[in-house]
Amino acid sequence: MGTKRVAVITGANGGLGYAIACRLLDSIPSSVPLTIVITARHLRKAVETISRLRAYAKGRDLLTFDYVLLDLTSVSSINEVSNQLLSRYTHIDYLFCNAGGGDFTGIDWPGAFVEILSGPLNALTHPHFKVERCGRISRDSLGWVFQMNVFANYFLMKQISTLLSGGGRVILISSIESRIAHEFNPEDIQLTHSDQPYVDSKKSLELLHTAIAKRWADELGVLIYITHPGICHTSIMAEYLNFLTTFGMLCLFYIARWIGSPWHVVSPYNGALAPVWAAVNAVPEADPVEGVTYASASDRLGRCYVKRTDDVTDEDRKNAAILLEELDKLVQDSLERVRLESS
Ligand SMILES: NC(=O)c1ccc[n+]([C@@H]2O[C@H](COP(=O)([O-])OP(=O)(O)OC[C@H]3O[C@@H](n4cnc5c(N)ncnc54)[C@H](OP(=O)(O)O)[C@@H]3O)[C@@H](O)[C@H]2O)c1
Repeated sequence: MGTKRVAVITGANGGLGYAIACRLLDSIPSSVPLTIVITARHLRKAVETISRLRAYAKGRDLLTFDYVLLDLTSVSSINEVSNQLLSRYTHIDYLFCNAGGGDFTGIDWPGAFVEILSGPLNALTHPHFKVERCGRISRDSLGWVFQMNVFANYFLMKQISTLLSGGGRVILISSIESRIAHEFNPEDIQLTHSDQPYVDSKKSLELLHTAIAKRWADELGVLIYITHPGICHTSIMAEYLNFLTTFGMLCLFYIARWIGSPWHVVSPYNGALAPVWAAVNAVPEADPVEGVTYASASDRLGRCYVKRTDDVTDEDRKNAAILLEELDKLVQDSLERVRLESS
């Protein structure tokens, strides 16, 4: 029997997060005691998810589930969740910072049509037709998308760093779409003026990783991997798709894969390959945490593999330092806010 492992998966109630939980169950031998802590925003979803995962892992002993309710757009929620984790666990082996999303308002259908006809592979990999709202602010007076996809992950990691230190791994989830992010703007770090805050927040998450991966590895023994799941079918844009358009989208995903896109892995289980591999199988000496992104990819026949890309520039390193300075200030502000709220 191995030593007990504890995995925390944010946003595990659906899409990629649920697939990460399933893939983790398939990757860690059943002889190893495992606790999976899921986060969801609502109790009902947390309970349903645990019962689905119990059914998935049927027959497996040495497995326990736990949940915490987490809303990434609230620093007090993150603080509360951190306190719960600190009181229940002595260490965390894997933290999957999966939850996130965008403030999408729809799909520009005529634009999508033109973009797909003029360059199908590019349009299906780096779409410009998902319409995002600009300028949404959270209850904590932070850029809403920036808080959810960037700051919240950093705040959570900082708050529970003692549980991760000495061997824990953090898996950050970026996106292939970060390749079409606007240039980093030090005047708009919270992305409230960006017309594509989701896309830009994923680039900022990569910059955050660049800023801290080496330091956390050297000083805390925490390995932070940046990964992305390729492109898979989840509920991220479900609000704007019906049965027919979902079917059409899936057909286009398969066509993209057949004509050579490595990124159209299609299923969330395939998308979970790189995140789970980074947590369970990556060997730090051969698979460095710094300067490399590990992504889920597929060949034409749907055989999945982990694809490495190594494209951090000097400009990225400079911007990463600026971003980190701002994030550290926000951590201090948030701790003060939480202190005032509880006094
Ligand atoms: N699907 C793709 O092709 C793709 C590609 C690249 C990257 N990603 C990334 O993969 C991750 C998971 O996305 P997905 O595709 O699986 O989308 P999804 O099906 O919409 O799942 C998103 C998860 O995040 C949770 N969440 C959303 N807002 C939250 C908040 N404010 N606080 C706490 N939890 C919140 C959702 O909870 P609720 O159910 O309560 O909304 C859900 O569990 C995201 O970081 C996304 O950017 C996905």
